[in-house]
Amino acid sequence: MGWPYKKLVRPILFAQNAERVHDFTLKLLGHVSRNKFARDVTGKFFASPELPVEMFGLKFPNPVGLAAGLDKFAVAVPIWEKLGFGFCELGGVTWHPQPGNLSPRIFRAVADEAIVNRMGFNNSGAEALAQKLAEWKKNGRWPKHPVGINLGKSKITPLEKAAEDYADSFRALRDLADFFVVNVSSPNTPGLRQLQDKSALDEIFAAMQQENSTRKPILVKVAPDLSFEALDEILGLAKTRNISGIVATNTTISRPQTNDSRLQKIYAETGGLSGKPLRARSTEIIRHIFKQTRGQLPIVGVGGIFNADDAWEKISAGASLIQIYTGMIYEGPGIAKTIVRGLVQRMERERVHNLKEIAHSAAAKI
Ligand SMILES: Cc1cc2nc3c(=O)[nH]c(=O)nc-3n(C[C@H](O)[C@H](O)[C@H](O)COP(=O)(O)O)c2cc1C
Repeated sequence: MGWPYKKLVRPILFAQNAERVHDFTLKLLGHVSRNKFARDVTGKFFASPELPVEMFGLKFPNPVGLAAGLDKFAVAVPIWEKLGFGFCELGGVTWHPQPGNLSPRIFRAVADEAIVNRMGFNNSGAEALAQKLAEWKKNGRWPKHPVGINLGKSKITPLEKAAEDYADSFRALRDLADFFVVNVSSPNTPGLRQLQDKSALDEIFAAMQQENSTRKPILVKVAPDLSFEALDEILGLAKTRNISGIVATNTTISRPQTNDSRLQKIYAETGGLSGKPLRARSTEIIRHIFKQTRGQLPIVGVGGIFNADDAWEKISAGASLIQIYTGMIYEGPGIAKTIVRGLVQRMERERVHNLKEIAHSAAAKI
């Protein structure tokens, strides 16, 4: 599927406005999600081989997940497993519904296989999302794989009230998903990344854990622009606040050097950069977390994964699960299957029996 998508479908899609293509595609996937025949055909084409992973008490059929921001409104929940994903992270959602930033707010940097976005958490609010998820459950179309929800802070909520805002969203959604991710790392909500500060994050997790009587795993998603010192402060909270893992990383505010004037124009846009230029930095962050926690804290690796080698790099650095956003835009709907298949083949070649061995043996060689 990779070749026909890249040569035939992608040129048509990339000739249109990026957000319009996104909305159209999600709408289409929503229709497919509601039709049993279409779902089954999709599953026949795109099913991944099995590569089970157990993490924070959940069973994942494979380690390749859909990253936050792609299905913000949960319009296509049943389709991600049919496209071969081992889990999905829905949202980001905020307590208050909000329109996000003005359009245009997604830009393709095609020559670098990257995206700049400043969506600003456009979403219909935690209660509307809860209703949507309840509908999928009621209709018996809930996927077998774990489902996570990405929580952001409402723009109108002042930073001092952030803990309440996250806890309100969590209360509305806690019974409807398997794990939650506290997103304090999006560059597109003013001041949000200040919440990565230890005391602010401590307050957020304290408020959420108070609501968490069924002990749902709650992870935190970090920015690739954090210093290792700031990252270590966050890791220091993991035990006291029962943080189940780290999602590393969100998009970056940094930009690569380039002489290409078309890229320069895109990179001058405000927003977070994702895709290939993010790959190395996000891997570096993962490696640091793995080293600091001696592999004891689960890491979800995300940033610039386009193929099985990129996935292997993240897993070697210490990720137990990985996620994809921009890679799917550039490589097409078969990306999860291609990556899982590539991982299985490489594990056979290198005589590795489970994914955990990969990171531990890589760390031993450093
Ligand atoms: C258009 C767009 C919207 C996104 N929205 C969110 C979001 O709501 N919450 C979040 O935590 N990350 C969001 N992300 C970040 C991705 O989940 C991911 O961390 C990042 O894009 C790096 O992965 P990639 O290089 O595979 O795209 C968004 C990314 C893009 C491109």
